Amino acid sequence: MKLEKRDIAVRPRRLRRTDALRRLVRETCLNKDDLVAPVFISAGENKKHSISSMQGVYQWSIDRVQEEIDELLAVGIDKIILFGIPSVKDSTGSDSYSQNGIIQKSLQKLKQEYSDLFIITDVCFCEYTDHGHCGVIHDNDVSNDSTLSLLGKQALSHVEAGADMVAPSGMMDGMVGEIRLALDTGGFEHIPIMSYAVKYASAFYGPFRDAVESTPQFGDRKSYQMDPANIREALKEVELDILEGADIIMVKPALAYLDVISHVKDISNVPVACYNVSGEYSMLKAAAEKGWIDHDSAMMEMLLSMKRSGADIIISYFAKEAAALMKND
Ligand code: PBG
Repeated sequence: MKLEKRDIAVRPRRLRRTDALRRLVRETCLNKDDLVAPVFISAGENKKHSISSMQGVYQWSIDRVQEEIDELLAVGIDKIILFGIPSVKDSTGSDSYSQNGIIQKSLQKLKQEYSDLFIITDVCFCEYTDHGHCGVIHDNDVSNDSTLSLLGKQALSHVEAGADMVAPSGMMDGMVGEIRLALDTGGFEHIPIMSYAVKYASAFYGPFRDAVESTPQFGDRKSYQMDPANIREALKEVELDILEGADIIMVKPALAYLDVISHVKDISNVPVACYNVSGEYSMLKAAAEKGWIDHDSAMMEMLLSMKRSGADIIISYFAKEAAALMKND
């Protein structure tokens, strides 16, 4: 039997013929303004200390971090999130709320030198405690309520030192409300809170814990970070944090949780951020180093997938490299 020429009226390929046409019908577009770069600041002087598990990421001392900021600004990234590695860690993480703490000193310096740089601070204890957990320990577990008042204190001291936004990441119940109260009482009702509302107990944080030397000295973080199997619980966390006054909601990690990002976007009316975490970064770096994958295209595809799934803001160690590949706009 002879096949007749079939009449295919709808041909999706018609819209894929040329680059200009593809750009015309493109649904999602990644912009430099979607990206926030994490920056690690460590005690000491004249330090640009490479982190072996995170190629191209460094711990900077306060006197040299300008090198990194200048590179970020040169490619159009003017939003950063700061992480501090103090010289001394103790049981309550006191450096994190000291006026002379590593973050406070960095903020004072950076705000003086770069008045337009938007600086977010990660508000947590794991980088500052000798046991590596995200709060005060009672009976071998992190005590939620004793950690809360210290979180308020830490956030307020960051803002007093110049932080433009605070991002609590410790997954303590009530943390957003407590921080909102501390900031408002201190006269900072205009400073927004970006809450790590949905943070999973994930293996993808491994390289970061090398970077800030925060691997828990006992146990794990499963009694406060979320079970990767749960998504309805994520919605509960989001609703609670919005009620407590969160201005922006974050999902973390990003790549293995795109369904969560998309769901959170559907049920909320605040901007949604995601954290493209260290393990996601290092996996690509390692595969690219072996020549197994094309680094730049895979990087852009990963970031695009986060935007497409609903993230308005992407925190990523790729921010600088991705921005360098984007057109100036
Ligand atoms: C907690 C914090 C963590 C990350 C950001 N903030 C680590 C953790 O929960 O262990 C992880 C970021 C990453 O893996 O890139 N202060």
